[in-house]
Amino acid sequence: MANSVRRRDFLKGAAAAGAGWMVARGLPARAAADARLDILLDEPIGLISPDLYGHFVEHLGGVIYDGIWVGEQSKIPNVRGIRRALVEKMAGLTPSIMRWPGGCFADNYDWRDGIGPAEKRPRRTDFWVDTRSRPAPSGGAPLPPEPIRTGPQDFDPNTFGLHEFMRFCTQTKSTPYLAANVRSLPAKDFYQWVEYCNAPAGVTTLSDQRAAAGDRDPFKVRYWGIGNESWGCGGNFTPEEYATEFRKFTAWVPRYGLPLSYIAAGPNGGDLDWTTGFFRKLTERGKGQLDHLYGFALHYYCGSTGKRNAVDFTTPEWYELLAKADRMESLITSHWAAMGETDPTHKVKLIVDEWGAWHARAADMPESYLWAYPGSLRDALVSALTLDTFHRHADKVAMANVAQLINTIHSLFLAHEDKFVATPNYHVFEMYGAHAGGTSVRTSFVAPRIEATRDGKPHQLWGLGGSASLHDKTLVVTVVNPHATEPRECELAIRGAKVTGGRARILSSTDLRAHNSFAAPEALVPRDADVPAGAVAGGSGPLVYTFAPASVTRLRLTLA
Ligand code: AHR
Repeated sequence: MANSVRRRDFLKGAAAAGAGWMVARGLPARAAADARLDILLDEPIGLISPDLYGHFVEHLGGVIYDGIWVGEQSKIPNVRGIRRALVEKMAGLTPSIMRWPGGCFADNYDWRDGIGPAEKRPRRTDFWVDTRSRPAPSGGAPLPPEPIRTGPQDFDPNTFGLHEFMRFCTQTKSTPYLAANVRSLPAKDFYQWVEYCNAPAGVTTLSDQRAAAGDRDPFKVRYWGIGNESWGCGGNFTPEEYATEFRKFTAWVPRYGLPLSYIAAGPNGGDLDWTTGFFRKLTERGKGQLDHLYGFALHYYCGSTGKRNAVDFTTPEWYELLAKADRMESLITSHWAAMGETDPTHKVKLIVDEWGAWHARAADMPESYLWAYPGSLRDALVSALTLDTFHRHADKVAMANVAQLINTIHSLFLAHEDKFVATPNYHVFEMYGAHAGGTSVRTSFVAPRIEATRDGKPHQLWGLGGSASLHDKTLVVTVVNPHATEPRECELAIRGAKVTGGRARILSSTDLRAHNSFAAPEALVPRDADVPAGAVAGGSGPLVYTFAPASVTRLRLTLA
């Protein structure tokens, strides 16, 4: 059972660790609040790019077919074939990046299958066809033979191809990020995909083909992933083999006046050998090779033990998932250090183009909609603490893509036929978008830690975490209180400014398993409140705010 560190122990520990702030800053050694947050406005980290709130959509389960694409003739309200409810709800988010077509699917995909008249496009076997999201029976008895499923989730009709994807990007004001097939197509197909997308109409056969399909203006796709998970489904390469492929794919690609930003397939979680091996091999013919590389893409998923149902967990499992999600911090710093061995000036940025909490499919979603589930308050805290981590490393992480937008894994939406709902993750993305464009500034939290476990071992989870960004006279602060039952009173010391007022937006519930469903779409939504006048204290005293148990809070503070 996870317990708070007792208050007396905390104060002792804080006095030892934090004596500096009490004495050196001349603050009264009062113990009115359980916790303290120092926001150091004069210690900027970097600009918070909107690209940190990016998305990922793959031809996997119900993501594309039904989730996004319902078809122009569908009774389900749509905008030129794309689910209208999704487009409308996306308007509430900060426009960002949209990664497509995979994932593992990308290294199986021929972009030519998805162009030309829809009725003439080929049907192809989807990469995920043999994947079952049914839990395996315990005791090792063999699974019975599976019936072949025949839907578009398994045999892709290619009605959603490049033009439809670009349409979706336009509708949602997203910037496209395409992943090339390195495992099963030659580099030439990649060059020609770039040509089809970016060459002006009238200059090549491919650009004329694009224009004839209705898109005369080039798509101007800047971000190109060179394969995906090349250590696994993307080809089972060694880092050295992959570096050679990367060099081949990115050498002398025509740019058509647009700088291309290549993204290399990075490591699986903590695999530092992949990072070191790739960078060493890439640069063996000179550091100039780094100029071809915009970002290096880490993937990290946390998940529930045995891929249990997203809304079926105990309180210790609540803490365990948050502790696992918190590994993102050390993954960023350790890979960044490994990249720095070969790239000491850090020309190349880190990208986290797949992240999220992975659980089992909800029983009321079709079996072919692999890992489609609504997500709970617990997943919302995973979203919040992960986005806070990206903000705190805004100097290192240039882009991140949550996996995935709809109907699988850490999704922001769940849809089936005419039913559609926004998950708690959506609400966190909506709240956190307020950071975009601001300058991330250093924060320091001191709060009672929580005894938890991680990967079966005891682990101390922080008692409050978050990030802050400055936008002229507005300070945006986001804070996660992971404690299942205890509110956390916190003194906020904002070095270099006075607070004159503020508003809070809070996502929380007394039910840790709270989630939205088709039947109850607003069971868990954020609420707004004033930051109490007393807490602001006319700028003379410290701001004291109590963070609700099991909560994500955004404070928008006005500075004098
Ligand atoms: O997001 C689902 C899958 O997870 C992706 O296709 C793959 O890249 C990762 O293993």
